[in-house]
Amino acid sequence: MPALYGPEYQALRESVSALAEKKIAPFAQDVDENSRYPQEAADALQSAGLAAAHVPVEFGGQGADALAAVIIIEEVARVCGASSLIPAVNKLGSVPLMIAGNQEQKKKYLTKLAAGSGFSYCLSESEAGSDAAAMKTKAVKDGDNWVISGSKKWISNAGVSEFYTVLASTDPGKGAKGISAFIVEKSDAGVSFGAHEKKMGFKGSPTREVYFDNVKISDDRRLGEVGSGFSLAMKTLDHTRITIAAQALGIAQGAFDVAKKYAHERQQFSKPIFDFQAVQFMLADMAMQIEAARQLTYAAAVKSERFESDLTFFSAASKCFATDVAMKVTTDAVQILGGYGYVSDYPVERMMRDAKLTQIYEGTNQIQRLVMARNLDTLTN
Ligand code: CAA
Repeated sequence: MPALYGPEYQALRESVSALAEKKIAPFAQDVDENSRYPQEAADALQSAGLAAAHVPVEFGGQGADALAAVIIIEEVARVCGASSLIPAVNKLGSVPLMIAGNQEQKKKYLTKLAAGSGFSYCLSESEAGSDAAAMKTKAVKDGDNWVISGSKKWISNAGVSEFYTVLASTDPGKGAKGISAFIVEKSDAGVSFGAHEKKMGFKGSPTREVYFDNVKISDDRRLGEVGSGFSLAMKTLDHTRITIAAQALGIAQGAFDVAKKYAHERQQFSKPIFDFQAVQFMLADMAMQIEAARQLTYAAAVKSERFESDLTFFSAASKCFATDVAMKVTTDAVQILGGYGYVSDYPVERMMRDAKLTQIYEGTNQIQRLVMARNLDTLTN
């Protein structure tokens, strides 16, 4: 990939891959089986500066650009999807701050994020998933403060993160134009968390409701102008849906690696199953789809870095394409491993379960297609 992918990115890939193999992969199965937080991965990523590498250098981060962030998430996801949500969620939670925060807010929160605080994103509600603007959580002005009440659902890393970007309605009569964004801290009075969701995959990543019981915060926690929150939330997703594409790409690559190795080792009818064209064609298709997803994801990352005008289309397209590829590739990997693929001796069944979520969160793939359709005129080719 010469145009998109220089030697510095290759060096980053190699170092993240080495860390993932050594410090994350050995725990991936246990994390999944016991639905436990991948603490080993969190520690390893934090000490290597990879848990929130996108934080600018001036605030103590690595200043990783969008392509570097993608490569970090991809390489972690290759061995453990749940662990790859640590850098992905930290980016999702903090992009609104990076886009709309003032210098004081950035200094305070990005510095703590680089030091390991964790930053989650609170957009979805029980009755407002795809229709995000239908949110009921309210923020009411009270002198110099805001009082937030309501609840958010399916919040990744809830309870682990110290900080939360919360989208709330400040003018319910105005729909999308009456939504504002705030930073809420886990320690704010009135913040609490629901039970851990029992999920099909990504079992190591905590997903919980977040409750706001008249949480009083000062106006300096507001991100951007009152009423600009929905547009900020959408702009954020333009940058972060690419990280879900990266995650899907990593999961697909991880499953492909296992399936290819297995196909060479597994003997049936006195020869490796790789020698059968039926299996060769499956692996060829898998590799082709992964490479196409990688090219699209990296192209979208470059557009994110440059804030290009067709970013919204490319972000949705990369997320939709790469996650559909991950579902197909992981399902085919299970098929190639047959009975061994369906049991947890090999990681491909976990990867197949993990892949499913990538087609759903940060906007279902139906919503991605809607976003693409609405942005067809931005395409320059
Ligand atoms: N950038 C800037 N502004 C944008 C925008 C973008 N990409 N997309 C929309 N807007 C603006 C619009 O311009 C519009 O403002 P104007 O009226 O001033 O033009 C306003 O926002 C409303 O836009 P729409 O009319 O398009 O809004 P809509 O109600 O039709 O909804 C939607 C659009 C695309 C369906 C949106 O609701 C959506 O993306 N839904 C999916 C939600 C989602 O992705 N949730 C993910 C949760 S996070 C998560 O899953 C994380 C995790 O666990 C890891």
